[in-house]
Amino acid sequence: MILVTGAAGFIGANFVLDWLAQADEPVINLDKLTYAGNLQSLESLKGDARHLFVHGDIGDRALVDKLLAEHRPRAVVNFAAESHVDRSIHGPEDFIQTNVVGTFHLLESVRAHWGSLPEAEKSGFRFLHVSTDEVYGTLGPGDAPFTETHPYEPNSPYSASKAASDHLVRAYHHTYGLPVLTTNCSNNYGPFHFPEKLIPLMIVNALAGKPLPVYGDGMQIRDWLYVKDHCSAIRRVLEAGKPGETYNVGGWNEKPNIEIVNTVCALLDELSPRADHKRYAEQITYVKDRPGHDRRYAIDATKIHRELGWKPAETFETGIRKTVQWYLENTAWVAAVQSGDYRNWIGKQYGTTA
Ligand code: NAD
Ligand code: DAU
Repeated sequence: MILVTGAAGFIGANFVLDWLAQADEPVINLDKLTYAGNLQSLESLKGDARHLFVHGDIGDRALVDKLLAEHRPRAVVNFAAESHVDRSIHGPEDFIQTNVVGTFHLLESVRAHWGSLPEAEKSGFRFLHVSTDEVYGTLGPGDAPFTETHPYEPNSPYSASKAASDHLVRAYHHTYGLPVLTTNCSNNYGPFHFPEKLIPLMIVNALAGKPLPVYGDGMQIRDWLYVKDHCSAIRRVLEAGKPGETYNVGGWNEKPNIEIVNTVCALLDELSPRADHKRYAEQITYVKDRPGHDRRYAIDATKIHRELGWKPAETFETGIRKTVQWYLENTAWVAAVQSGDYRNWIGKQYGTTA
């Protein structure tokens, strides 16, 4: 079996659902259930003995030691993190606590466990750390996309905390020989994405008749990847990645934010037109920019393609259509995650109610 942390969140939940759809190898899901953790996303696994949910913190040494000793997973995949840049600007402390201190404690538990394994199990064991392209900082318009050797230049408390965790993971390989793998991925989108992030926020606000808040001039560029393609990349790296290596994962899909918002609006015009027959794009409102906002991210995903044969299955056009359709068909999930904490966040960030 494998131990997956943070698998009640957006990418972790998609990863577990895809994993169990393709193989029978059980998963222990260790998640703290912060505001971003939603067990409703794993509702389809209710009663499935292959999924064992454990409510807890990656920084809880006693709990993680016990889980590793009892279940002897052959791999740990670490998704658990505080993940929203805007929240890290309002309050960085949780980001340091989970992303840096939590990852450190998790590495310590894993190192002790790995060190105690018999040779056959030891050589097959893997610790896969899921990271982000944001650790590389920002690009100018003509700069080449980030490769794995690009210097780390994180600009937000979120990306700085992820960079720190990447460095710890790297050091545990270099110093102790722990068989680690790190993936640095671009912006994901797809089902079960918490509606504080750009794409799901635009979908739910549009349908609710609310403003669509675009930061600054809307010309910041992100490289978008359908979440299930990120999951297939992680499976491939776990299967064939070389310990100690990092792999960039991206969709070769660079787009300015305003184009993303206009695409979402056009799909909603087609799939769920406004009652007054006006266009959803009329709801777009330019708002104050994010402090320290990175202008452009772009991933060079040549290495994972060349060495491991991975490439994305979805184009942006197919992925975004599936995503908008998913939100239209899963209004109960959206309503369930728009809890008290969600309403508080929307009030704090946008000065409006959810
Ligand atoms: P998310 O915020 O949706 O989910 C995070 C999950 O981690 C939640 O279920 C939360 O309850 C859990 N968690 C938080 N702190 C924890 C702790 N101390 N112990 C155990 N569980 C804890 O995040 P996501 O978007 O699914 O991102 C998952 C990982 O992928 C993160 O490490 C993030 O940095 C990375 N990543 C995300 C993206 C993206 O576009 N979303 C892109 C690249 C990399
Ligand atoms: O690049 C990978 C990263 O992508 C991950 O590491 C992060 O966990 C993930 O949250 C995401 O970070 P971003 O900051 O790029 O994602 P977000 O959806 O918050 O914003 C995408 C872009 O849209 C960004 O340029 C800010 C802008 N934006 C966002 C929101 C929420 C808006 O213009 N308006 C908004 O209301």
